[in-house]
Amino acid sequence: MTALRPASSADLDEIMVIENTVFGLEAWSRQGFQAELESDFGNYLVAVDDDGAVIGYVGLRVVPGSGDGDIQTLAVAQTARGRGLGRGLLEAAHERAAELGVRQMFLDVRVDNAVAQSLYRSFGYEVVGTRPGYYQPSNTDAYTMKATLR
Ligand SMILES: CC(C)(COP(=O)(O)OP(=O)(O)OC[C@H]1O[C@@H](n2cnc3c(N)ncnc32)[C@H](O)[C@@H]1OP(=O)(O)O)[C@@H](O)C(=O)NCCC(=O)NCCS
Repeated sequence: MTALRPASSADLDEIMVIENTVFGLEAWSRQGFQAELESDFGNYLVAVDDDGAVIGYVGLRVVPGSGDGDIQTLAVAQTARGRGLGRGLLEAAHERAAELGVRQMFLDVRVDNAVAQSLYRSFGYEVVGTRPGYYQPSNTDAYTMKATLR
């Protein structure tokens, strides 16, 4: 059984293994990730397997009172994909966002990331803009997507 729980700095080592494997040169730095985990605006969750190992994470950023939320990151370890974990993490982030009074959700996704876009569309996200060269060093454009929380 997979469980979801709030992420803490104690999870950083395991998170960074997944982060570096999944995003390679475009991974966040450890310091950057730590700052997000410690931020008052950060709401990060990890998915853990039966042994307590981290197998995925999602990061939600909400500035209280703004009514807006951002999915900052979402990743599932390669070996744990295709069984609903990404969907579960995003759903949990949306639930947390709703608790925080969020009405509009935003995220950025690589234009060539069809798998993630498919997941996001199933949650009602639609493309509202493009950010040229947002991902570096690959110089890949991002779609900005937006969803209204139900
Ligand atoms: C995107 C990601 C988080 C999805 O995680 P996952 O646990 O494999 O996804 P799920 O099993 O919950 O599937 C959710 C949806 O993703 C899409 N999806 C998943 N695998 C797919 C595949 N191989 N091909 C096409 N779509 C796929 C589908 O829309 C799926 O919904 P469905 O099961 O109703 O068809 C995972 O692929 C990942 O970590 N990718 C690398 C990091 C990344 O791209 N993060 C997003 C950055 S914006």
